[in-house]
Amino acid sequence: SIDIASLTRQTGLTTLDYGFVNTASTASAITYIDGDAGILRYRGYPIEQIAANSTFLEVAWLLLYGELPSADELDAWEKRIRRHTLVHEDLKHLFEALPYHAHPMSMLSSAVAALGTYYEDSAAVDDKEAVELATIRLLAKMPVVAAYAHKKSLGQAFLYPDNSLSYVENFLRLNFGTMAEPYEVNPVVAKALDRLLILHADHEQNASTSTVRLVGSTKANIFSSISAGISALYGPLHGGANEAVLEMLAGIRDSGESVKTFVERVKNKEDGVKLMGFGHRVYKNYDPRAKLVKESADAVLEELGVHDPLLDIAKELEQAALEDDYFVSRKLYPNVDFYTGVMYKAMGFPPRMFTVLFAIGRLPGWIAQWREVNTDPATKIGRPQQLYIGSPERQFPQR
Ligand code: ACO
Repeated sequence: SIDIASLTRQTGLTTLDYGFVNTASTASAITYIDGDAGILRYRGYPIEQIAANSTFLEVAWLLLYGELPSADELDAWEKRIRRHTLVHEDLKHLFEALPYHAHPMSMLSSAVAALGTYYEDSAAVDDKEAVELATIRLLAKMPVVAAYAHKKSLGQAFLYPDNSLSYVENFLRLNFGTMAEPYEVNPVVAKALDRLLILHADHEQNASTSTVRLVGSTKANIFSSISAGISALYGPLHGGANEAVLEMLAGIRDSGESVKTFVERVKNKEDGVKLMGFGHRVYKNYDPRAKLVKESADAVLEELGVHDPLLDIAKELEQAALEDDYFVSRKLYPNVDFYTGVMYKAMGFPPRMFTVLFAIGRLPGWIAQWREVNTDPATKIGRPQQLYIGSPERQFPQR
């Protein structure tokens, strides 16, 4: 076998690959994507079959352990996660220190890093039991602190979890319930949100997952690694695109600009304006998740009796792009974020919570990838090379 690292040292061979367009950072057995064919599989199972037949917590198990759980395993797993939904009372004070207008993604990354300070017993990287416990704690508690971030921005009291509810039902209640009235979960909304979380659950070496793996490769604990992943997801070119899509659609509606002139501005790259929710580094075909999201968006809006002109604008934009050579020749198609915002809005989430929902969905994938890094004997600390292009040596002025 060829020792690439030693060969590189000997020959001085370095590849310069901005954005890692052609460079694999790892081998992985978790998720498979064929971007040209529009194929996504978790542990070998096509995303369409998973979305039609599974639940988010079952998918989390699949990503983490590589196989589907038995009915008993799934039941025990769900119960164990439920038992861990309470967060330490003191952690709530963290939110008091933050301004109410703070972005919920900033609140979430802070809160998840802070969670680690309470659970140092589960922060050991090489202890299997500790990692299991940290996995359960993160899956159980991250939705709770995410809902706290939402409540903080509304100025409403934080609710305690209700463990008689399912994972997603609990999350909806924590966001939309109040201390004053009982909250009734709409099963169609709960099912659609569960499906959305499944669709976001992993996506191989995207920017946030690569961040989690890079931080994990330093043997940093899992809470800090996931917090770093949340920060990477925040950006509008990554998970933040779902919020940016809604802003773009609302901007078109409010300005009265036609879809056609907006598309012309995108094509002319006017002020760097992009069609948010379009294009993908890996998919050069329709993102298979976008198709499924579109179906769910239609179902949820129908169930809730909402007619949102933003959905009409989104569909018109998609149609215009599919018929336009600029987008066709660059293989730009809707990505997972294009239709999610319209649905989250109909469910009652403010746009600033959209990327938080993405983070909750991506959590099992991040954990599975972190665990893979920390169990793969081939793992080395991530440390890219650079090509230095700065000043040659010069003398510091004598003073
Ligand atoms: N609108 C208009 N033009 C676009 C778009 C877009 N959304 N995306 C790419 N292009 C154009 C580029 O300007 C470039 O054109 P050029 O060849 O004339 O210079 C060409 O298509 C290739 O684009 P790159 O930027 O080189 O593609 P890259 O793989 O680096 O970027 C990215 C991928 C970041 C997703 C990009 O398509 C984008 O910015 N999309 C909008 C933001 C978005 O939706 N992000 C979410 C991605 S999915 C996710 O993270 C969940």
